[in-house]
Amino acid sequence: MRVSALIVAAGKGERLGGAVPKQYQLLGGQMILTRTLNAVLACDLIDHVICVIHPDARALYDDAIADLSPERLRPPIDGGSDRATSVRLGLEALSADPPDRVLIHDAARPFVPASSVATLSAQNDAAILAEPVVDALWHEEDGHAERPVPRDGLWRAQTPQAFPFDRILAAHRAGASGETPALDDAETYRRHGGSVRLVSGSPDNFKITTAADMARAERLLRERSEDTMEIRTGHGFDVHRWEPGDGVWLCGVRIPHDKSLQGHSDADVGLHALADALYGALAEGDIGQHFPPSDPQWKGTESHVFLSHAAGRVAERGGRVVNADLTLLCESPKIGPHSTAMRERVAELLGIASDRVSVKATTMERMGFIGREEGMGCIANATIALPVAE
Ligand code: CTP
Ligand code: MG
Repeated sequence: MRVSALIVAAGKGERLGGAVPKQYQLLGGQMILTRTLNAVLACDLIDHVICVIHPDARALYDDAIADLSPERLRPPIDGGSDRATSVRLGLEALSADPPDRVLIHDAARPFVPASSVATLSAQNDAAILAEPVVDALWHEEDGHAERPVPRDGLWRAQTPQAFPFDRILAAHRAGASGETPALDDAETYRRHGGSVRLVSGSPDNFKITTAADMARAERLLRERSEDTMEIRTGHGFDVHRWEPGDGVWLCGVRIPHDKSLQGHSDADVGLHALADALYGALAEGDIGQHFPPSDPQWKGTESHVFLSHAAGRVAERGGRVVNADLTLLCESPKIGPHSTAMRERVAELLGIASDRVSVKATTMERMGFIGREEGMGCIANATIALPVAE
């Protein structure tokens, strides 16, 4: 059975308002339409997806699909002035190479579960997602509860609504000529003699219509991301040897001193230890693996490049740095006077607030190689939040 999904996205989103129609507004950094398409495409039973858009919104649509893989996406087509017309025009476009079954879905419902898409795709008959009404229902008159409405057997319809393709196309063609507008595609189908099964949907599959819905969508997304993030920690340790010189880079800050640290790069022992802590939390090796000392292109590199790369890897994996804690090990120079500047510089490189970064120091009580001032070291811990791998 070939199954197509028709996403209606030609509305203006007037009840929500905003600079662009709601389906092109960002929700958690991603356009609502992009989220809806990803949700539908997550179901393997869908062979093709086609969007019905407003002719003025082509550039916005192109942005929405820019990062999607194009294999199952058909080019968009222009919609009409009401939803039913948009659906009919979409069905007409599909009829050039008709599927067996079509799922009609609102672009404004980005949280449709892939399991619901699968259930609707796998049926033979018409079926729609819906939820039983649980609240008491009242008929109002002049602002007063006038008459109770029995809620037994009442369901609230959602989308997707799924139909045998030929029959819903015929129903919409017939519906286009004159009748009073139908509530939804299920009604159009029933008017044409079909019967429609109700399939229990998820309350999360609500339609974003007003600002309150948008706020609810943002809350839901936050809850979900908290559910799917795990906390990881990593540690890093680094040492460098002292040599004669006039200053030292520590945690991205230049400190005048009567010695310098030896190294292939600027020898910033603090940033090196912290970059290794981040690579450790990611389980992605260490600095030497990403920037081999044997490769002349990294000679003299300023160490913020390493830390920015490690923090960039956290971001690329969808994560964020929660905090960093560094302990510098040296007899001199004194770190205290510079620790605020160091915290601020490290926080800037990590893209987090400076109250998430700590820089401390200790001497080694003149013991060992650090105590004898042959070299200095740094121990760093980093905590990151990372999406749980599927
Ligand atoms: N829709 C459409 N063509 C129209 C009207 C609506 O494709 N002429 C789509 C919308 O883009 C939306 C879905 O139908 O995905 C449900 O409609 P609704 O929530 O009413 O969206 P809008 O019409 O855009 O919003 P509003 O009514 O607030 O203007
Ligand atoms: Mg509308």
